[in-house]
Amino acid sequence: MKRLWMVVSVLTSLPLLAGGSPQTPPAAEQATDDPYEIPDSARDRRNPVVRSDETLRAGHTLWQKHCETCHGVTGRGDGPNARLHEQRKGHAPRNLTQPKVQDNLTDGEIFWRISKGIIEEGNNVIMPRYEDKIPSETERWQLVVFVRELGRAARR
Ligand code: HEC
Repeated sequence: MKRLWMVVSVLTSLPLLAGGSPQTPPAAEQATDDPYEIPDSARDRRNPVVRSDETLRAGHTLWQKHCETCHGVTGRGDGPNARLHEQRKGHAPRNLTQPKVQDNLTDGEIFWRISKGIIEEGNNVIMPRYEDKIPSETERWQLVVFVRELGRAARR
């Protein structure tokens, strides 16, 4: 079973074999440093962490420590640093609780965003990357569960 899983993950990380995007752009466009772009293989990753009280608690603690200053207590993009950040960088965090925003993101994309941040050319940090600050993948997946919970809480 383990071997099969390896084969599957190798296949899905090769967009061509997985039958990925048919209109592959020309090489020049493809060689992108676009910090907003997320590879297909990352987008399709499943969250290995299940939602539980423990996961939500852990995710919440990480959120308070790393994310709240910009994204706000409930994820509406109204953290104390949000406006300052907008003035300096020209980007405000959007309202992560909106169904439209939630539905546009896969778990894999949220995980990727947390890991890589958004760093524009010239090291302009729109959102910091957390790969190094939160080296545990499990903890970053716990944050993904928590980000989902922000969407859920707003719908209640
Ligand atoms: C310095 C401010 C800042 C911090 C700290 C920060 N972010 Fe962000 N984040 C942003 C900005 C700005 C964007 C881009 C605008 C947007 O998409 O909301 C963004 C984008 C995102 C997105 C993608 C939204 C989308 O629609 O594509 C997610 C998910 C996210 N942040 C989660 C987090 C999490 C989780 C943390 C903590 C680990 C975090 N952010 C920390 C500023 C920040």
